[in-house]
Amino acid sequence: MSNIIDTVSWLAPDGSVHFQWTEQTLPAGGKLRIIDQRRLPEKLAYLDIDSVADACEAIQTLAVRGAPAIGCAAALALAAAGGKIETENTEEFLRRMRKNSGQLRASRPTAVNLSWALDRCMDRLEKSPHLPVQELKKELLKEALGILEEDIALCDRIGENGAALLRDGMGILTHCNAGALAAGGCGTALAPVYAAMRKGMRIKVYADETRPLLQGSRLTAWELQRAGADVTVLCDNMAAQLMREGRIQAVIVGADRIAANGDTANKIGTYGTALLAYCHHIPFYVAAPYSTFDLSLKDGSEIPIEQRDPHEVTEFSGKRIAPTGVKVCNPAFDVTPQELIRAFITDRGIIRPPFTNAENRI
Ligand code: MRU
Repeated sequence: MSNIIDTVSWLAPDGSVHFQWTEQTLPAGGKLRIIDQRRLPEKLAYLDIDSVADACEAIQTLAVRGAPAIGCAAALALAAAGGKIETENTEEFLRRMRKNSGQLRASRPTAVNLSWALDRCMDRLEKSPHLPVQELKKELLKEALGILEEDIALCDRIGENGAALLRDGMGILTHCNAGALAAGGCGTALAPVYAAMRKGMRIKVYADETRPLLQGSRLTAWELQRAGADVTVLCDNMAAQLMREGRIQAVIVGADRIAANGDTANKIGTYGTALLAYCHHIPFYVAAPYSTFDLSLKDGSEIPIEQRDPHEVTEFSGKRIAPTGVKVCNPAFDVTPQELIRAFITDRGIIRPPFTNAENRI
């Protein structure tokens, strides 16, 4: 008989959850259950993961995606895979865990939350080489569940801090999905919206559809609609017109990695949206937990940008929409220069420019 540990992330009104950890026997036999986002919005289906290979595939194919979510998923998958290693030799266990962690780390390059979460798990193991393997497995699971629990709290704090910037009746534009489907908790860019809704504010959310993989229309619209929010989907090329019509009072997006000077990598198209907001004198906010800041990078030019399969651009729902053999570019992310960002909404408060001042750093 399996039992489900009471550590789940965001609980939708109908009881569906994003992350679940299921255990048969402690500490081995655990597995991670996630929503399979590739199938949304058509079907709410779940995916069980208990190996590094399954986790890498889920991360690469965007069954689980969004910076904080892939960090949580990788940590829990590492714990699941670790639980299955059959050895009593600590050195052998650590060697195999380093390999597992390396494979997970390589699954996607841009979101720093992935390596941040894996480093946390591996540090905990490496600091306790005197423990027997069974104890190390328990330590690893505690760390992974701790990362998920912490993310839930970080999202709530981002929500509270960001809601203070919102007013009743505002129109908010967002790009990609930085909501509950992208995190362990209720999200980053959407957290202030959820918090404002709880305070009784009427917020109108405009969701860029976010080509090529449509995270905005498939995922943001799906989760906001289920939460009872007022959400409108638009194609990416419509935002400028809506801004000119005065329908958007703020833009809030998430982030995959933020360099020390404030340059921010997020879903491709974010940079263009920031430029549009700048031209229309609309504040452009980036919402992110401290785990998304990478102060080891001087500026955005050092952020690795994932290049994805050309088929994501040349095919739509399995049908060709560009001539065979045409050249394609498909960067998954772009970098918004810090000067276009009005403020960062973080779990630790609002960070305003100049972002390079020591006291303004995360
Ligand atoms: O390719 P994706 O869907 O993983 O891209 C996700 C984003 O760009 C999000 O905006 C970002 O990870 C922040 S999620 C809270």
